[in-house]
Order: sequence, then structure tokens, then C-alpha cells
Amino acid sequence: MRVLIAYASRYGATQGIAERIAATLRQQGLEATVQPARQAADPAGYDAAVIGSAAYYFHWMKPAASFVRRNARALANRPVWLFSSGPLGTKDKDDQGRDLREFLEPKEIAKFRETLKPRDHRVFFGAMDSAKLGFLHRLVYKLPANRDNALFPQGDFRNWTEIDSWAATIAHSLKAP
Ligand SMILES: Cc1cc2nc3c(=O)[nH]c(=O)nc-3n(C[C@H](O)[C@H](O)[C@H](O)COP(=O)(O)O)c2cc1C
Repeated sequence: MRVLIAYASRYGATQGIAERIAATLRQQGLEATVQPARQAADPAGYDAAVIGSAAYYFHWMKPAASFVRRNARALANRPVWLFSSGPLGTKDKDDQGRDLREFLEPKEIAKFRETLKPRDHRVFFGAMDSAKLGFLHRLVYKLPANRDNALFPQGDFRNWTEIDSWAATIAHSLKAP
């Protein structure tokens, strides 16, 4: 069974998650192809798809959202899983008690749930290294509101156990008779 994994990643954290999911699918005997969403293949040539994006300012990155929109028909006709990589830090909730995975769910996902009927959408904690940020992201990072990294904690918060187990559920579901 052939699975396309398409991702959008600005600094590599989401790419790492996509590659890790592919590795788990391969261990489970599936054929997984990982491609940046900007130049990803037509999902019609695959049995299933996993699509992920980093979240910036409450949105998926354009290449991932465009990939979904331009391939909506093919995606709606096969099993699809979505993931987002976003929240930073070690806390599940913010100071106001909001669950970060829910609060930071990218705005596109509600619509994609309707159009694609994905089997699941999962928000994973991401990673950020301020030394790598581009000009505009660095400006935001340096805003007074982010004093002491209040908004954007720095580090790698990807939870590989959680990612592996999610990928394993995808594999089991695809291999189920
Ligand atoms: C300027 C800036 C804005 C961000 N906005 C969000 C956001 O709205 N929601 C979120 O969950 N994460 C946000 N993040 C965190 C990133 O999504 C996270 O670092 C992600 O894992 C980066 O993935 P990438 O390396 O693949 O680009 C933001 C990070 C930066 C630097």
C-alpha cells in the first residue's frame, strides 16, 4: 500500500515529524513517500495520504493548505490523516487554562474536516530555535509580549513517543482488512 506524506515546514521541525511518521509506516510494511507540499505528487496515485504543516499565526502554511485545496477531490476519496506542528513549551494549557492543542488548532482544519473527512487531525508540539528565525519571525520573537519567551518558548518539544504511536494507528488502520 502506497502512502503519500506531504508537509510544509519553515525551519525543519515539521519535516522531521513527517519523516518520522514515514519511518514508522515503513517499519509496518507500508510504502511511504515524503514530499514537501509545494511540489508533492498527485494523491490520486496513492492509496492514502498524511498531510501536515507547521502553524504560524493560527494558520497552516500556504503550500500545505493549497495542496489540500487543489487535491480536495482525490483526498476526499481516500483515507487521509492531518497533523499540525505548533505549540511550544512543556505546558499543555496556557495561563488562562486553555488547552493549547485546541486553542492553537489552525483555522483551516475546521473546513478540511468538512471537505476531506479525515480519519484524524492531530496537533503535535513543535520546535523552535530563535537563532534560525527569518527576519519577520525574529521581529515577532523580539516583541515585548514575548519577554522571557512567554509566547514562544525555545527548544525542541516534539514528543516522538506520541508521534510514533499516532503513526502506528495509521498503519494499523490501513492494514486492517
Ligand atoms: C513567529 C512565530 C509564530 C508562530 N505562530 C504559531 C501559531 O500561531 N500556532 C502554533 O501552534 N505555533 C506557532 N508557532 C510555533 C511553530 O509553529 C513551531 O515552532 C513549529 O514546530 C515550527 O515548525 P517548522 O520548523 O516546521 O517551521 C510560531 C512560531 C513563530 C516563530
